[in-house]
Amino acid sequence: MMESVLWPELAGRRVLLGVSGGVAAYKSAELCRLLVRCGASVDVMMTRSARQFVGEVTFAALSGRPVATELFDPAQEAQIGHIGLADRAELCVIAPATANLLAKLAHGLADDLVSTVCLAYHGKLLCAPAMNVHMWQHPATQENLATLRRRGVSTVGPGAGEMACGHVGEGRMAEPEEILQAAGACLAPQDLAGRAILVSAGPTHEPLDPVRFLGNRSSGKMGFALAAEAAARGAEVTLVAGPSALETPWGVRRVDVRTAAEMALEVRSRAPTHSALVMAAAVADYRPRAVAAAKLKKATLGEHPVLELERTEDILGGLRALCPDAVLVGFAAETGEGLAEHAARKLTAKGCDLLVGNDVSALGAGFEAETNRVVIFEAGEGAPSSEPLPLLSKRTVARLILDRVARRLEGR
Ligand code: PMT
Repeated sequence: MMESVLWPELAGRRVLLGVSGGVAAYKSAELCRLLVRCGASVDVMMTRSARQFVGEVTFAALSGRPVATELFDPAQEAQIGHIGLADRAELCVIAPATANLLAKLAHGLADDLVSTVCLAYHGKLLCAPAMNVHMWQHPATQENLATLRRRGVSTVGPGAGEMACGHVGEGRMAEPEEILQAAGACLAPQDLAGRAILVSAGPTHEPLDPVRFLGNRSSGKMGFALAAEAAARGAEVTLVAGPSALETPWGVRRVDVRTAAEMALEVRSRAPTHSALVMAAAVADYRPRAVAAAKLKKATLGEHPVLELERTEDILGGLRALCPDAVLVGFAAETGEGLAEHAARKLTAKGCDLLVGNDVSALGAGFEAETNRVVIFEAGEGAPSSEPLPLLSKRTVARLILDRVARRLEGR
């Protein structure tokens, strides 16, 4: 199940989901489902207008818990208790957050169940605004948002696009997956806050002619998981990504590249301003020496054409000189015997602090898989230490790598 793999910080946590009255309320049902699938225990509270759009039975079925809808209903108060809702929650997510509800939150109004619970709640609050573009742009809404952000309230979205009212512009509620990611980030430890971390991910494509390239099977999953985990823990993350169909993780600045030369340029120019560099990309070691201007034809190539290659830039190999004080993490993709020797040699040769040895021939590990099996080699005094990890989700592997990065950064 992907979501729990992606957001383990939500497992076992108590999340209060507040739904206010907008068309996007139907998307909150999906958000509720995703939160539950991540292992969160979800209490739902709804405004009266929210129930004009979606019935509480939907949320009761998805959360497996009674839904709070009324402030002055003795039966609900006995069963749920509005102050209890506020006290129990570790995170409160308001989705959709209408202009009206944002105004109430900003000004401390408590004239219905949701606004009253929010006033009684003192934990982390995440709002996913959703409204008509003109309401969104109105100075009153923008000032209310600024007030809430000043108080530490997090926001996700809104996005731009065509809206239910027919207008086009900003105001569409963020997609449930995106809100889920922001919720996970709200609950993650912030031990990388204030650190700038650069991650490389994915394959490179080395063109042969206008329609062909030399590439590899990297999907980007390992590198994207590292970027997502670092951003969730408060780091400012730049992800230099080779061609990958994956969505950009929440809070991550993505720089798309195609070739090893482009990746080298983007990584090297940005590296000196980063305190940690994690190179998970599967960069081509060779590229075609010449790129044909037109599509290569069988008729001219003959039966046994020979492809002449040249070395690409060794990106990892040049980073220590560029960033003497950064925490440098390399990967080593190996198949079969000799992983330990190769990885330990690479750790020293490239000046890395950590080297993640990846047996890409192991079942469920390496390219394209959701899981990975790695050995983490760490430089220290004397010989490098090594720690083999079992088969884990790539997100958990990312967490364990970044735990070590965080520890090494502590002293810098
Ligand atoms: O993307 P996924 O489908 O999730 O797959 C994940 C992965 C298998 C790609 C990943 O876990 C991994 O092992 N990445 C490193 C792959 C690799 O190219 O290994 P390597 O042993 O060839 O390279 C060693 C290191 O040098 C790597 O950090 C690599 O980024 C770097 N390198 C390689 C070549 C080059 N020209 N420049 C480099 O900087």
